Amino acid sequence: MRKKVTIVGAGMTGTAIAQLLAARGIADVVLVDIVEGLPQGKALDIAEGSPWVGFSSSVTGTNDWAATAGSDVVVVTSGVPRRPGMTREDLLGTNAGIVRAVVGSAAKHSPQAVLIIFANPMDAMCHVALQASGFPAARVVGQGGMLDSGRYRTFIAMELGLSVRDINAWVVGGHTEATMVPLVSNANVGGVPLATLMRPDRVQAIVERTKRGGAEIVELLKTGSAFNGPAAATVEMVQAVLLDERRVLPCCTLLDGPYGVKQAFIGAPVTLGAGGIQRVHEFKLSDEEQAGMAAAAKAVLELVAATPRA
Ligand code: 2OP
Repeated sequence: MRKKVTIVGAGMTGTAIAQLLAARGIADVVLVDIVEGLPQGKALDIAEGSPWVGFSSSVTGTNDWAATAGSDVVVVTSGVPRRPGMTREDLLGTNAGIVRAVVGSAAKHSPQAVLIIFANPMDAMCHVALQASGFPAARVVGQGGMLDSGRYRTFIAMELGLSVRDINAWVVGGHTEATMVPLVSNANVGGVPLATLMRPDRVQAIVERTKRGGAEIVELLKTGSAFNGPAAATVEMVQAVLLDERRVLPCCTLLDGPYGVKQAFIGAPVTLGAGGIQRVHEFKLSDEEQAGMAAAAKAVLELVAATPRA
């Protein structure tokens, strides 16, 4: 029997994830949303492309949580996106209520699922999801570091004119401009240290562009935030879980010890496979990067303290 993935929210991001995931043919996809007709229309549209894209898995749209029952992975994209001039943190109160409600329903219908959390401020929303689901922390994963690493790798590849596939450069820490930690100390291209390929001022410019990567898209689109890059990053995570690929990827996870962080969701390198986070990888960072991890943890715990309760 095929695996089942529910995507909560049939907006731009949810639809992009459904489309990319369906195209891989590794799971039946259920798109759920409260707006009548929206998930049904989006799902039917994606399914009607299947003869040409060439996938056999089903894509279903629904307003009924019962149709999501028994999902292996639930991706929560619900929540409002930011608009020009807003930070991710500005969305805290609105999105906490939405995430709490949908995660409660998701957990009820798919008690064994791995939850992938998307809404901003993403690290704080993982705390909300952990509490609302009652799931073990290994099954609550945030996607920020994946998206941010996609941006970092893309910008390095563009600068060097080299294949993005060989860029090994990862972003950990928080998914906000102030708390992102693009790792420079171990960045390399096919094993060649980045520092030997690029001047320090250019590396720094790319680090800063990566931190503002989400804002750059918001400023260009004017009516919403990124969805294609985030969707691609999320689908890699979903596949890692469904196929137990045991990928080593930068995901947002509840750290409790590694990098000196206690009980805070921030991005770190993890093994992602069946059951979610299988292991957190800890290694020596530069002093600046390590300080960035501490600052990210402090910032997310402050947001958690400021999150309105149900
Ligand atoms: C971004 O960085 C939406 O947070 C997301 O684009």
